[in-house]
Amino acid sequence: MKNSIIIIFLLSIFFIQAQNDQKIAFGPYIQQMSTKDATLCWSTIEGESTITFPKGKTDTIRSYKQHKIHLANLKPNTKYAYDVLNDGSDEGKGILTTFPDKSIPFNFVAIGDSRSRHDVHAKIVKKIQEKNPRFVINSGDLVGNGLSIKDWEAFFKVNKEFMKNTPYYPVLGNHEKDSPYYYDFFDLPNNERYYYFTVGDALFIVLDSEGLRTTVPAYVKGDKQDQFWYDSGIEYLKTQKIWLENVLNLNKDAGFIFVFQHLPLYSVKKSRVEESKMARKFWGDIFFRHGVQVFLNGHDHHYHHAIDNGVHFITAAGAGAPLYKVDAPQPETVNYKEIEHFINVEVNKDTAVLHVIDIDGNEFDTIEIKRRNTK
Ligand SMILES: [Fe+2]
Repeated sequence: MKNSIIIIFLLSIFFIQAQNDQKIAFGPYIQQMSTKDATLCWSTIEGESTITFPKGKTDTIRSYKQHKIHLANLKPNTKYAYDVLNDGSDEGKGILTTFPDKSIPFNFVAIGDSRSRHDVHAKIVKKIQEKNPRFVINSGDLVGNGLSIKDWEAFFKVNKEFMKNTPYYPVLGNHEKDSPYYYDFFDLPNNERYYYFTVGDALFIVLDSEGLRTTVPAYVKGDKQDQFWYDSGIEYLKTQKIWLENVLNLNKDAGFIFVFQHLPLYSVKKSRVEESKMARKFWGDIFFRHGVQVFLNGHDHHYHHAIDNGVHFITAAGAGAPLYKVDAPQPETVNYKEIEHFINVEVNKDTAVLHVIDIDGNEFDTIEIKRRNTK
Protein backbone atom coordinates (compact mmCIF):
# COMPACT_ATOMS: atom_id res chain seq x y z
CA MET A 1 0.00 0.00 0.00
CA LYS A 2 2.78 2.35 1.02
CA ASN A 3 4.62 1.63 -2.26
CA SER A 4 1.59 2.35 -4.47
CA ILE A 5 1.09 5.78 -2.83
CA ILE A 6 4.71 6.64 -3.65
CA ILE A 7 4.23 5.58 -7.28
CA ILE A 8 1.11 7.76 -7.67
CA PHE A 9 2.98 10.69 -6.15
CA LEU A 10 5.88 10.31 -8.59
CA LEU A 11 3.50 9.99 -11.52
CA SER A 12 1.85 13.23 -10.56
CA ILE A 13 5.18 15.00 -10.47
CA PHE A 14 5.99 13.63 -13.91
CA PHE A 15 2.59 14.74 -15.20
CA ILE A 16 3.04 18.25 -13.81
CA GLN A 17 6.51 18.39 -15.36
CA ALA A 18 5.13 17.34 -18.74
CA GLN A 19 2.52 20.08 -18.50
CA ASN A 20 5.18 22.64 -17.63
CA ASP A 21 7.11 21.71 -20.77
CA GLN A 22 4.05 22.79 -22.74
CA LYS A 23 3.96 26.13 -20.95
CA ILE A 24 4.89 29.19 -22.92
CA ALA A 25 8.56 30.14 -22.92
CA PHE A 26 8.37 33.24 -25.15
CA GLY A 27 5.21 35.23 -25.75
CA PRO A 28 2.49 35.20 -26.70
CA TYR A 29 3.22 38.16 -28.95
CA ILE A 30 1.61 39.90 -31.92
CA GLN A 31 2.98 40.12 -35.46
CA GLN A 32 1.69 41.16 -38.91
CA MET A 33 -0.99 43.46 -37.57
CA SER A 34 -3.30 45.07 -40.12
CA THR A 35 -6.89 46.30 -40.29
CA LYS A 36 -8.26 42.76 -40.67
CA ASP A 37 -5.45 40.34 -39.81
CA ALA A 38 -2.97 39.55 -37.09
CA THR A 39 -0.59 36.72 -36.23
CA LEU A 40 -0.16 35.38 -32.71
CA CYS A 41 3.19 33.76 -31.95
CA TRP A 42 4.62 31.92 -28.97
CA SER A 43 7.34 29.39 -28.20
CA THR A 44 7.54 26.34 -26.01
CA ILE A 45 10.64 24.51 -24.85
CA GLU A 46 11.42 21.61 -27.16
CA GLY A 47 14.57 20.22 -25.63
CA GLU A 48 17.80 20.85 -23.77
CA SER A 49 21.37 20.17 -24.82
CA THR A 50 24.56 20.24 -22.81
CA ILE A 51 27.85 21.53 -24.09
CA THR A 52 31.14 20.77 -22.36
CA PHE A 53 33.95 23.29 -22.74
CA PRO A 54 37.62 22.24 -23.04
CA LYS A 55 38.27 22.83 -19.31
CA GLY A 56 35.27 20.75 -18.26
CA LYS A 57 32.74 23.52 -17.58
CA THR A 58 29.28 22.68 -18.89
CA ASP A 59 26.39 24.77 -20.11
CA THR A 60 22.79 23.89 -20.87
CA ILE A 61 21.22 25.30 -24.02
CA ARG A 62 17.54 25.04 -24.82
CA SER A 63 15.81 24.61 -28.15
CA TYR A 64 12.35 26.04 -28.72
CA LYS A 65 9.36 25.17 -30.81
CA GLN A 66 7.57 28.00 -32.58
CA HIS A 67 3.79 28.26 -32.70
CA LYS A 68 1.85 30.59 -34.91
CA ILE A 69 -1.84 31.32 -35.48
CA HIS A 70 -3.00 33.64 -38.21
CA LEU A 71 -6.23 35.50 -37.48
CA ALA A 72 -8.29 36.75 -40.42
CA ASN A 73 -11.60 38.56 -40.96
CA LEU A 74 -11.11 40.82 -37.96
CA LYS A 75 -12.74 44.26 -37.74
CA PRO A 76 -10.62 47.42 -38.03
CA ASN A 77 -9.71 49.42 -34.93
CA THR A 78 -11.18 46.77 -32.62
CA LYS A 79 -9.85 45.16 -29.44
CA TYR A 80 -9.85 41.36 -29.23
CA ALA A 81 -9.02 39.37 -26.11
CA TYR A 82 -7.12 36.16 -26.92
CA ASP A 83 -5.90 33.12 -25.05
CA VAL A 84 -3.48 30.76 -26.82
CA LEU A 85 -3.42 28.24 -23.94
CA ASN A 86 -6.98 27.98 -22.67
CA ASP A 87 -5.78 26.39 -19.44
CA GLY A 88 -7.46 28.78 -17.05
CA SER A 89 -4.22 30.69 -16.39
CA ASP A 90 -3.25 34.19 -17.56
CA GLU A 91 -0.12 32.81 -19.26
CA GLY A 92 -1.57 32.69 -22.79
CA LYS A 93 -3.82 35.73 -22.53
CA GLY A 94 -3.47 39.09 -24.20
CA ILE A 95 -5.33 41.82 -26.03
CA LEU A 96 -4.75 42.78 -29.63
CA THR A 97 -6.06 45.94 -31.25
CA THR A 98 -6.39 45.95 -35.03
CA PHE A 99 -5.13 48.94 -37.00
CA PRO A 100 -7.71 51.55 -38.05
CA ASP A 101 -8.87 51.72 -41.68
CA LYS A 102 -9.25 55.51 -41.45
CA SER A 103 -6.82 58.30 -40.63
CA ILE A 104 -7.47 58.69 -36.93
CA PRO A 105 -4.92 59.90 -34.35
CA PHE A 106 -2.64 57.17 -33.01
CA ASN A 107 0.81 56.82 -31.47
CA PHE A 108 3.69 54.42 -31.92
CA VAL A 109 7.10 54.10 -30.28
CA ALA A 110 10.56 53.89 -31.86
CA ILE A 111 13.55 52.48 -29.99
CA GLY A 112 16.93 51.08 -30.98
CA ASP A 113 19.79 48.92 -29.76
CA SER A 114 18.15 47.23 -26.77
CA ARG A 115 21.01 44.75 -26.86
CA SER A 116 22.96 43.98 -23.71
CA ARG A 117 22.01 46.00 -20.62
CA HIS A 118 18.79 44.20 -19.75
CA ASP A 119 18.05 46.41 -16.72
CA VAL A 120 18.11 49.52 -18.94
CA HIS A 121 16.03 47.77 -21.59
CA ALA A 122 13.47 46.72 -18.94
CA LYS A 123 13.21 50.29 -17.60
CA ILE A 124 12.72 51.70 -21.11
CA VAL A 125 10.02 49.10 -21.87
CA LYS A 126 8.22 50.04 -18.64
CA LYS A 127 8.20 53.71 -19.65
CA ILE A 128 6.98 52.80 -23.16
CA GLN A 129 4.08 50.81 -21.70
CA GLU A 130 2.82 54.00 -20.06
CA LYS A 131 2.41 55.51 -23.54
CA ASN A 132 0.22 52.61 -24.70
CA PRO A 133 1.48 52.68 -28.33
CA ARG A 134 -0.28 50.97 -31.25
CA PHE A 135 3.02 49.25 -32.01
CA VAL A 136 6.72 49.51 -31.33
CA ILE A 137 9.53 49.44 -33.86
CA ASN A 138 13.08 48.56 -32.87
CA SER A 139 15.69 49.86 -35.34
CA GLY A 140 18.04 46.91 -34.85
CA ASP A 141 20.52 45.25 -32.52
CA LEU A 142 17.66 43.89 -30.47
CA VAL A 143 20.13 41.46 -28.86
CA GLY A 144 23.87 41.33 -28.28
CA ASN A 145 24.36 38.24 -30.42
CA GLY A 146 21.52 37.04 -32.65
CA LEU A 147 23.08 33.57 -32.88
CA SER A 148 22.91 33.08 -29.09
CA ILE A 149 19.60 31.68 -27.87
CA LYS A 150 20.39 32.96 -24.38
CA ASP A 151 20.28 36.52 -25.72
CA TRP A 152 16.82 35.92 -27.17
CA GLU A 153 15.71 34.40 -23.86
CA ALA A 154 16.70 37.67 -22.16
CA PHE A 155 14.99 39.76 -24.87
CA PHE A 156 11.67 37.93 -24.61
CA LYS A 157 11.83 37.96 -20.80
CA VAL A 158 12.12 41.76 -20.73
CA ASN A 159 9.32 42.17 -23.29
CA LYS A 160 6.98 39.40 -22.07
CA GLU A 161 4.11 41.49 -20.72
CA PHE A 162 4.56 44.33 -23.22
CA MET A 163 4.53 42.15 -26.34
CA LYS A 164 1.32 40.36 -25.29
CA ASN A 165 -0.65 43.46 -26.21
CA THR A 166 1.61 45.48 -28.53
CA PRO A 167 2.72 44.45 -32.04
CA TYR A 168 6.52 44.46 -32.30
CA TYR A 169 8.30 45.34 -35.56
CA PRO A 170 12.04 44.59 -35.63
CA VAL A 171 14.76 45.86 -37.97
CA LEU A 172 17.87 43.81 -38.76
CA GLY A 173 21.01 45.12 -37.06
CA ASN A 174 24.59 43.93 -37.34
CA HIS A 175 24.25 42.19 -33.95
CA GLU A 176 21.38 40.05 -35.26
CA LYS A 177 24.05 38.40 -37.46
CA ASP A 178 21.35 37.39 -39.95
CA SER A 179 20.49 34.68 -37.44
CA PRO A 180 17.91 31.96 -38.20
CA TYR A 181 16.43 32.73 -34.75
CA TYR A 182 15.41 36.19 -36.00
CA TYR A 183 13.38 34.69 -38.85
CA ASP A 184 11.99 31.95 -36.60
CA PHE A 185 10.76 34.29 -33.88
CA PHE A 186 9.42 37.13 -36.02
CA ASP A 187 6.72 36.88 -38.64
CA LEU A 188 7.11 39.87 -40.97
CA PRO A 189 5.79 41.10 -44.33
CA ASN A 190 7.58 40.69 -47.68
CA ASN A 191 10.89 38.84 -47.40
CA GLU A 192 11.15 39.65 -43.65
CA ARG A 193 14.42 41.51 -44.31
CA TYR A 194 12.89 44.68 -45.78
CA TYR A 195 9.19 45.33 -45.69
CA TYR A 196 6.50 47.93 -45.21
CA PHE A 197 3.13 48.33 -43.55
CA THR A 198 0.58 51.11 -43.15
CA VAL A 199 -1.56 52.51 -40.36
CA GLY A 200 -4.29 54.89 -41.55
CA ASP A 201 -2.48 57.00 -44.14
CA ALA A 202 0.94 56.65 -42.51
CA LEU A 203 3.53 54.50 -44.28
CA PHE A 204 6.27 52.64 -42.40
CA ILE A 205 9.18 51.27 -44.40
CA VAL A 206 11.85 49.02 -42.90
CA LEU A 207 15.16 48.65 -44.74
CA ASP A 208 17.93 46.14 -44.22
CA SER A 209 21.28 47.89 -44.06
CA GLU A 210 23.09 44.68 -43.07
CA GLY A 211 22.66 42.41 -46.08
CA LEU A 212 23.21 38.69 -46.26
CA ARG A 213 25.62 37.17 -43.80
CA THR A 214 28.87 36.72 -45.63
CA THR A 215 32.09 35.35 -44.25
CA VAL A 216 35.25 36.76 -45.74
CA PRO A 217 37.43 33.76 -46.66
CA ALA A 218 40.74 33.51 -44.82
CA TYR A 219 42.68 33.89 -48.11
CA VAL A 220 41.27 37.41 -48.64
CA LYS A 221 43.77 39.58 -46.80
CA GLY A 222 44.17 43.22 -45.68
CA ASP A 223 42.56 45.97 -47.80
CA LYS A 224 40.97 43.37 -50.07
CA GLN A 225 38.60 42.46 -47.21
CA ASP A 226 36.68 45.79 -47.51
CA GLN A 227 36.37 45.32 -51.25
CA PHE A 228 35.11 41.77 -50.69
CA TRP A 229 32.39 43.05 -48.31
CA TYR A 230 31.37 45.76 -50.79
CA ASP A 231 31.24 43.44 -53.79
CA SER A 232 29.32 40.75 -51.89
CA GLY A 233 26.66 43.19 -50.64
CA ILE A 234 26.18 45.70 -53.41
CA GLU A 235 23.81 43.65 -55.59
CA TYR A 236 21.59 43.01 -52.56
CA LEU A 237 21.44 46.74 -51.79
CA LYS A 238 20.73 47.65 -55.41
CA THR A 239 17.79 45.22 -55.47
CA GLN A 240 16.51 46.78 -52.26
CA LYS A 241 16.81 50.26 -53.74
CA ILE A 242 14.62 49.25 -56.70
CA TRP A 243 12.10 47.78 -54.24
CA LEU A 244 12.12 51.01 -52.20
CA GLU A 245 11.56 53.16 -55.29
CA ASN A 246 8.54 50.96 -56.18
CA VAL A 247 7.11 51.12 -52.66
CA LEU A 248 7.41 54.91 -52.57
CA ASN A 249 5.78 55.24 -56.00
CA LEU A 250 2.95 52.90 -54.99
CA ASN A 251 2.30 54.85 -51.80
CA LYS A 252 2.65 58.41 -53.05
CA ASP A 253 -0.66 59.37 -51.41
CA ALA A 254 0.58 58.56 -47.90
CA GLY A 255 0.20 61.45 -45.47
CA PHE A 256 3.28 60.48 -43.47
CA ILE A 257 6.32 58.42 -44.43
CA PHE A 258 8.71 56.99 -41.85
CA VAL A 259 11.72 54.98 -42.98
CA PHE A 260 13.77 52.79 -40.63
CA GLN A 261 17.09 51.03 -40.91
CA HIS A 262 19.90 50.14 -38.56
CA LEU A 263 22.86 52.09 -39.94
CA PRO A 264 22.85 55.90 -39.74
CA LEU A 265 23.03 58.14 -42.79
CA TYR A 266 24.34 60.99 -40.60
CA SER A 267 26.74 59.57 -38.03
CA VAL A 268 28.25 61.90 -35.40
CA LYS A 269 30.71 59.26 -34.24
CA LYS A 270 34.06 60.16 -35.78
CA SER A 271 35.01 56.60 -36.72
CA ARG A 272 31.70 56.13 -38.60
CA VAL A 273 31.29 59.46 -40.41
CA GLU A 274 32.89 58.22 -43.64
CA GLU A 275 30.81 55.05 -43.69
CA SER A 276 27.61 57.09 -43.27
CA LYS A 277 28.66 59.40 -46.12
CA MET A 278 29.13 56.32 -48.34
CA ALA A 279 25.62 55.15 -47.41
CA ARG A 280 24.20 58.60 -48.30
CA LYS A 281 25.94 58.44 -51.64
CA PHE A 282 24.39 55.05 -52.31
CA TRP A 283 20.81 56.16 -51.53
CA GLY A 284 21.25 59.51 -53.32
CA ASP A 285 18.23 61.79 -53.35
CA ILE A 286 15.60 59.03 -53.01
CA PHE A 287 14.31 60.20 -49.60
CA PHE A 288 14.20 63.89 -50.61
CA ARG A 289 12.61 63.18 -53.97
CA HIS A 290 9.76 61.13 -52.49
CA GLY A 291 9.02 63.48 -49.59
CA VAL A 292 10.01 61.07 -46.82
CA GLN A 293 9.61 63.05 -43.60
CA VAL A 294 11.50 60.96 -41.06
CA PHE A 295 14.42 58.51 -41.41
CA LEU A 296 15.04 56.71 -38.12
CA ASN A 297 18.07 54.53 -37.38
CA GLY A 298 20.06 52.88 -34.59
CA HIS A 299 23.68 51.67 -34.33
CA ASP A 300 25.22 54.84 -32.80
CA HIS A 301 24.25 54.57 -29.14
CA HIS A 302 22.95 58.07 -28.44
CA TYR A 303 20.28 60.48 -29.64
CA HIS A 304 21.01 62.59 -32.73
CA HIS A 305 18.75 64.75 -34.88
CA ALA A 306 19.86 66.11 -38.26
CA ILE A 307 17.89 67.86 -40.98
CA ASP A 308 18.81 67.72 -44.65
CA ASN A 309 16.58 68.95 -47.48
CA GLY A 310 13.64 69.02 -45.08
CA VAL A 311 14.04 65.34 -44.09
CA HIS A 312 14.56 64.56 -40.39
CA PHE A 313 17.35 62.01 -39.88
CA ILE A 314 17.16 60.68 -36.35
CA THR A 315 19.39 58.28 -34.47
CA ALA A 316 17.50 56.77 -31.54
CA ALA A 317 19.72 54.03 -30.15
CA GLY A 318 19.40 54.32 -26.40
CA ALA A 319 17.41 51.27 -25.29
CA GLY A 320 20.15 49.23 -23.63
CA ALA A 321 23.50 49.22 -25.45
CA PRO A 322 26.39 51.14 -23.77
CA LEU A 323 26.20 54.83 -24.72
CA TYR A 324 28.58 56.43 -27.24
CA LYS A 325 30.08 59.91 -27.09
CA VAL A 326 29.17 62.33 -29.86
CA ASP A 327 32.58 63.44 -31.11
CA ALA A 328 31.85 64.67 -34.64
CA PRO A 329 28.70 66.81 -34.98
CA GLN A 330 27.88 67.37 -38.65
CA PRO A 331 26.69 70.52 -40.50
CA GLU A 332 23.20 68.97 -40.63
CA THR A 333 23.14 68.32 -36.85
CA VAL A 334 20.30 70.05 -34.96
CA ASN A 335 20.46 68.33 -31.59
CA TYR A 336 22.10 65.42 -29.79
CA LYS A 337 22.35 63.88 -26.36
CA GLU A 338 24.19 60.88 -24.92
CA ILE A 339 21.31 59.35 -23.01
CA GLU A 340 19.06 56.29 -22.80
CA HIS A 341 15.77 57.14 -24.48
CA PHE A 342 12.87 56.25 -26.77
CA ILE A 343 10.58 58.23 -29.09
CA ASN A 344 6.82 58.35 -28.72
CA VAL A 345 5.35 59.52 -32.04
CA GLU A 346 1.84 60.95 -32.07
CA VAL A 347 0.37 60.94 -35.56
CA ASN A 348 -2.52 63.37 -35.92
CA LYS A 349 -4.56 64.63 -38.87
CA ASP A 350 -2.21 67.38 -40.04
CA THR A 351 0.94 66.83 -38.00
CA ALA A 352 3.04 64.15 -36.37
CA VAL A 353 4.86 65.00 -33.15
CA LEU A 354 7.97 63.09 -32.07
CA HIS A 355 8.38 63.20 -28.30
CA VAL A 356 11.93 62.16 -27.41
CA ILE A 357 11.84 60.83 -23.85
CA ASP A 358 14.65 59.76 -21.53
CA ILE A 359 14.74 56.67 -19.33
CA ASP A 360 13.24 58.62 -16.41
CA GLY A 361 10.28 59.77 -18.47
CA ASN A 362 11.47 63.34 -19.17
CA GLU A 363 10.87 64.72 -22.65
CA PHE A 364 14.10 66.38 -23.81
CA ASP A 365 13.36 67.03 -27.48
CA THR A 366 10.20 67.53 -29.52
CA ILE A 367 9.99 67.49 -33.31
CA GLU A 368 6.87 68.41 -35.24
CA ILE A 369 6.39 67.41 -38.85
CA LYS A 370 3.61 68.40 -41.19
CA ARG A 371 1.43 66.09 -43.24
CA ARG A 372 2.74 65.56 -46.78
CA ASN A 373 1.09 67.60 -49.46
CA THR A 374 -0.38 64.85 -51.63
CA LYS A 375 -2.75 66.98 -53.73
FE1 LIG B 1 24.75 48.13 -34.59
